[in-house]
Amino acid sequence: MPKVVVTRRVPEEAIQRLQESCDLQYWDSEDAIPRQTLLEWVKGCDGIYLLLTEKVNDELLNAAGPQLKVVSTMSVGYDHIDVAACVRRNIAVGHTPDVLTKTTAELTVALLLATARRLSEGIDAVRNGEWSTWQPMWLTGQDLHESTVGIMGLGRIGAAVARMLSGFDCKLIYFDPYPNPKLAESLGVEYVSWEDLLSRSDFITTHTPLTNETRHLFNADAFRRMKKTAIFINTSRGGIVDQDALYNALVNGEILAAGLDVTTPEPLPADNPLVSLKNCVILPHIASASVATRRKMAVLAAENVLAGLAGAPLPSAVKL
Ligand code: GLV
Repeated sequence: MPKVVVTRRVPEEAIQRLQESCDLQYWDSEDAIPRQTLLEWVKGCDGIYLLLTEKVNDELLNAAGPQLKVVSTMSVGYDHIDVAACVRRNIAVGHTPDVLTKTTAELTVALLLATARRLSEGIDAVRNGEWSTWQPMWLTGQDLHESTVGIMGLGRIGAAVARMLSGFDCKLIYFDPYPNPKLAESLGVEYVSWEDLLSRSDFITTHTPLTNETRHLFNADAFRRMKKTAIFINTSRGGIVDQDALYNALVNGEILAAGLDVTTPEPLPADNPLVSLKNCVILPHIASASVATRRKMAVLAAENVLAGLAGAPLPSAVKL
């Protein structure tokens, strides 16, 4: 049987699928596998099933050896994988798009509302006994309805967010280096330049993968161009934001608030200055974390492994 390394405890359905035809080396733990252990375990393996916490680079691929056929990540993002290095070695790379799109879009909408309506401040106020009486202007926030929501990246998740927001009576605009006029028209989303996205949006939500082009895309210049009342939401990757610039923008009133599901680093230490800000809602990278979606992701990642081992096209392959 082919040897497959699984780097974390994942839903049982996925393990059962793999066990039918593979010899598993299973890191059955909620904690990440230590790098050194991973490098030892992958030696001679045919497939690796991993998460976004494991970096796939020449070091890992060399440690595995030339028989390695497939690397499968239980995530849609694959910035932790050196795909070119895999392609050079003829290793198939799988990921888990589509099954998490709506769940991730829902959390994006949750963050839009949580930041706009200051939910975490309200929850803290009740917990801390600070709710003295009903006050006309206490904890007043921003309306999502009749606002302009700017979507950076109209891919699967950006489009799903647009679809969900169609019931909120917003003006939707987007920027994408690869515009999709047909999709945009069907969603009622207007294409604008990057500069217009920054200056016209009341909310900016970003749905772009982390690449060399998007690293620190949201920097001091970008925050300076936004409205002072703008709210910035990120459910993609922490690396697309210059976090020092974001901190300064939030503290200096260049923008109103931010909602982040992703940060640099992850986990973000509790003493990171951003954590102390009332106008910054930070979640621990849970955008796709519904029970049903995580199960689907786990099974799809297993199916990618099995197809890769069989030399068949992966159900969801990463293409270079
Ligand atoms: C999560 O961030 C993912 O890429 O699936």
